[in-house]
Amino acid sequence: MESQRRYLKHIFVFSLVLGTIFFTLLNSYLGKQNVNIPYVDPGPHHVAYPRNYKFILDDTPTCRTSSLFLLIMVPVAPGNVAARDAIRETWGTERLVLGQRVKTLFILGLPGGADAEQTQEKLKEENQQHHDLIQSNFQDSYHNLTIKTMMTLEWLAAHCAKASYALKIDSDTLLHVRNLVKLLLDPKTPKQNYMSGLVWWHSPVLRDKSNKFFVPKDIIPEPEFPPYPLGFAYVMSLDLPEKILEVSPQIKAFFIEDAYLGMCLKRLGIPPTDPPENTMFLVDPKHPLSDCSLSKMIAAVTTSIQQMTGYWERSKQPSAKC
Ligand SMILES: *[C@@H]1O[C@H](CO)[C@@H](O)[C@H](O)[C@H]1NC(C)=O
Repeated sequence: MESQRRYLKHIFVFSLVLGTIFFTLLNSYLGKQNVNIPYVDPGPHHVAYPRNYKFILDDTPTCRTSSLFLLIMVPVAPGNVAARDAIRETWGTERLVLGQRVKTLFILGLPGGADAEQTQEKLKEENQQHHDLIQSNFQDSYHNLTIKTMMTLEWLAAHCAKASYALKIDSDTLLHVRNLVKLLLDPKTPKQNYMSGLVWWHSPVLRDKSNKFFVPKDIIPEPEFPPYPLGFAYVMSLDLPEKILEVSPQIKAFFIEDAYLGMCLKRLGIPPTDPPENTMFLVDPKHPLSDCSLSKMIAAVTTSIQQMTGYWERSKQPSAKC
């Protein structure tokens, strides 16, 4: 009787151990295979980032043929050819800056609306001409910007881990490539675990449901977001994309992409870095910008394509005295 009980107990413990080993192995296998939990409607404040989007336009030779110093990644709406062309004719033309190789690419999702198919055809033609579009198969929309950012990081981690830095910059923003490269070449600028821009150190989480940026407590219970560089322009060392992607499954994705990256950074224990001068990243500058401001800035939000183009031409002229 006693030995039979002990025998049953052994069998029980044995199968428990076997089961645990089996599920642990299965879990790690599924994790490596990137098999995802079935899709659950994320609700209006979460975004669907189930990590199985694909790239459907992705034939740029960038990072595949030779290594670069700086990647400039521009998220842009599929239909916004005008912004892409303006960038291709201004700061996007800069390829060799202070002896460093630089390249600008555009990142987009699927076009929506009635003329989506037509837009897609035009995108293919545009890409055949420039080979600078990276398109993923999620629906491109304001509320899906976090997906766009995460797909940018996925692309960088997969192709450009050997390059030094990546800048993410909005398509309505003026970029002074030379000043950025100068900052990145500065010996005081970290080569790893580095993310910089206009850092918001104390950004309150808005709990008013009628606010555009309302975020519920189940996403973040704290009253403040962890610090993050504002989304219009931030730069990171290229060890970070992989690290951020590694921790991101532990943090519910929501639609404010820059604040979401801040939460990933906090989980990694990597604080963002303030730029050395507060003249470098200008989110809401007083226009028109003076020659002096143009000579000190790295990124400045503009109000139109014409304004951006005009500023870029002025910023190419010999530096103004301040
Ligand atoms: C975001 O993209 C997903 C995948 O394409 C789509 O199902 C969802 O409707 C999109 N959300 C918005 C707000 O566009």
